[in-house]
Amino acid sequence: MEIYPIQSNTLKRFGSQQGAAAYAAKFESQWVERIRNGHEQRLVNDFLSMIPASDFSGFVLDMPCGFGRFLPSLREFAPRVVEGDWSGSMLEIVRSRHPGMAPEMVRSSATTLPFASRSFSLVFSVRLCHHIQTFEQRLEYLREIQRVSERWIIFTYLDEHSCHNAVRSRLRRWKGKRATWGMSADEVAGVFASGGFQVVRTELLSKLLSSQRYTLLRRNGR
Ligand SMILES: C[S@@+](CC[C@H](N)C(=O)[O-])C[C@H]1O[C@@H](n2cnc3c(N)ncnc32)[C@H](O)[C@@H]1O
Repeated sequence: MEIYPIQSNTLKRFGSQQGAAAYAAKFESQWVERIRNGHEQRLVNDFLSMIPASDFSGFVLDMPCGFGRFLPSLREFAPRVVEGDWSGSMLEIVRSRHPGMAPEMVRSSATTLPFASRSFSLVFSVRLCHHIQTFEQRLEYLREIQRVSERWIIFTYLDEHSCHNAVRSRLRRWKGKRATWGMSADEVAGVFASGGFQVVRTELLSKLLSSQRYTLLRRNGR
């Protein structure tokens, strides 16, 4: 399976049973993550509420789904959700945690999706972009999620102009660590505009505590 070079230790972590289980557990065992997740789930519900109910008649793609953190929310809006991830260990957790929901599942890279163009009413793709190392590779990923979306996209990226990133970048430089892999709002709007999408809403997960920016996009002309 083709995988662009995201940090290899991160990929190893998400790909292993232990790493996938640790990622899933942290949202329950760490109080900061519990609070952050509660806030994130509310924001996602808000974004989903902006999409007309009739647009949920088709399939929704949750890629990468991780351990299925957003599957229950997505299922409240859409009857047909496909859960996709590069990590088989993550998909195993989705299967065991949500036996009643029986979503369709696919193991694939988000940069080469095994679907025809415009197969999904909504592509939901969160917390992947900032793991991708080069701008070219991020473009490849963004073009692919646009290709398979018929109408809507919700995705996140690390906003390089956020207050949180400004502080974090300085700390990282001071510690001699590499810069984070962010994008600017203009770059994102430009990439999607050239693919025929417009930004409907964009919001930081938290103005002070996070650089993750949620963005809702709609295909033009429908
Ligand atoms: C930080 S987790 C986010 C998961 C989920 N969206 C969430 O917010 O809980 C990143 C996920 O991306 C997956 N991943 C990494 N590289 C990928 C790729 N090239 N294609 C698809 N999934 C990938 C990992 O296995 C992991 O489940």
